[in-house]
Amino acid sequence: MKFFVRTYGCQMNVADSNEMGRHLKDRGLALTENPDEASIMLVNTCTVRHHAEERAFSEIGRLKKWKAQMPGRKIVLTGCAAERTKEHIEDRFPYIDLVVGAKSIVDFPVMVEKLLDRRATDDELDYAVPATGDTVSSFVTIMRGCNYSCTYCIVPSVRGREIYQPRETVLGEVRDRVREGVREITLLGQTVNSYHDRSRSVGSRGRDTDFSDLLEAVAGIDGVERIRFMSPHPYYMTDRVIESMARVPQVCEALHMPVQSGSNSMLKKMARNYSREEYLRLIGKLRAAMPEMTISTDIIVGFPGETDADFGETLSLIEEAQLDWGFIFKYSQRDGTPAADLPCFSTELIEQRHQECLAVSDRIALDKRSKLAGTLQEILVEDDSYGRTRGNYKVHLTGDIRPGETVMARITDTERPTLEGSVE
Ligand code: SAH
Ligand code: SF4
Ligand code: F3S
Repeated sequence: MKFFVRTYGCQMNVADSNEMGRHLKDRGLALTENPDEASIMLVNTCTVRHHAEERAFSEIGRLKKWKAQMPGRKIVLTGCAAERTKEHIEDRFPYIDLVVGAKSIVDFPVMVEKLLDRRATDDELDYAVPATGDTVSSFVTIMRGCNYSCTYCIVPSVRGREIYQPRETVLGEVRDRVREGVREITLLGQTVNSYHDRSRSVGSRGRDTDFSDLLEAVAGIDGVERIRFMSPHPYYMTDRVIESMARVPQVCEALHMPVQSGSNSMLKKMARNYSREEYLRLIGKLRAAMPEMTISTDIIVGFPGETDADFGETLSLIEEAQLDWGFIFKYSQRDGTPAADLPCFSTELIEQRHQECLAVSDRIALDKRSKLAGTLQEILVEDDSYGRTRGNYKVHLTGDIRPGETVMARITDTERPTLEGSVE
């Protein structure tokens, strides 16, 4: 029996999909890239913005036909939108067989077992297809949930309070991935650098294992060539973390550190717990410690109350910090968040700010990557024709390459966000 996975949302969801996929494979099912040959469809949903949720739900709408085409097909709805709507989602889509909300991912094995038990599953054992995206570079979730309450954000309500994976569990998972051939590990959490593990102390004074300790411990595992992490929160980006990043050779010179806004008054209204000045000071420290580092960010435009002056501060922050690239999001009101009752701007104004912000961010991004033209870069090959630099630029490669190997390549074109490179 085969299963197909459709994942929406962030890396946390990709990691959850991989975890659920591993469980299904252990149960004797095989992953397929083709929905037509699947008997089980897993749709892992996101609800961070209205649009993200609607995309997942229109997929569910289309699946009614898919399910009717073959008797016994099952639809499993998982993730954040499933968590948010679990009380009434089966009214809207009665043909869904199982709902596993984001808070219950750990219960997936038990819940899905009940579903599978209703029919024979081991008719067609086939372990040939590896989990996608998991072969060279893999996500490892080190904490779930979020203890912040940024006023625009629905994540805390659908993912719950922070739970940290014990250090040994994290290291065990890293070892498993490396044994399967993975070379690059990305540690995941909503505020990943707030990680700590009280169950296991290090040093003579019995201090908790913190994020720096974890970076060092992961680096100590044979076969881990590269380490990344996301998303760090500026508040926990301590000197200690920066020192570890600079010291541990496997930690890549790339950081995705969401700022959301360049205006202090917006940051306060968003309850982000840092100021513009603190964020910029951090960028300075990071660039001083790791001059090659690329720094990217997330920005929300059109948060309620954002004046032209506030918006201008965001544009100037992108310039001042010389951010290497950014994801610019249009504010989306989410029911149940602290900001949900605030009056929203018109879609036209939000659209206009979005375009303006994208233009600034894209101009700087082009400028920054054009400096890479002609340089020699260390690239970890991810598939037959693409790899990534340590700075996290995706590179289309020409030359004789194999997934999993590290090559040196000359960057030949930087016009598009995916660079061109030729292996030397
Ligand atoms: N935990 C991460 C962010 C997770 S959500 C952090 O705090 O850095 C990913 C991104 O979605 C956020 O960085 C934010 O830019 C965006 N986002 C979250 N809620 C949003 C909303 N209601 N409207 C628009 N963008 C939103
Ligand atoms: Fe959302 Fe803020 Fe938590 Fe990130 S830190 S997940 S933006 S509440
Ligand atoms: Fe979306 Fe959930 Fe991630 S809401 S952004 S999939 S944590």
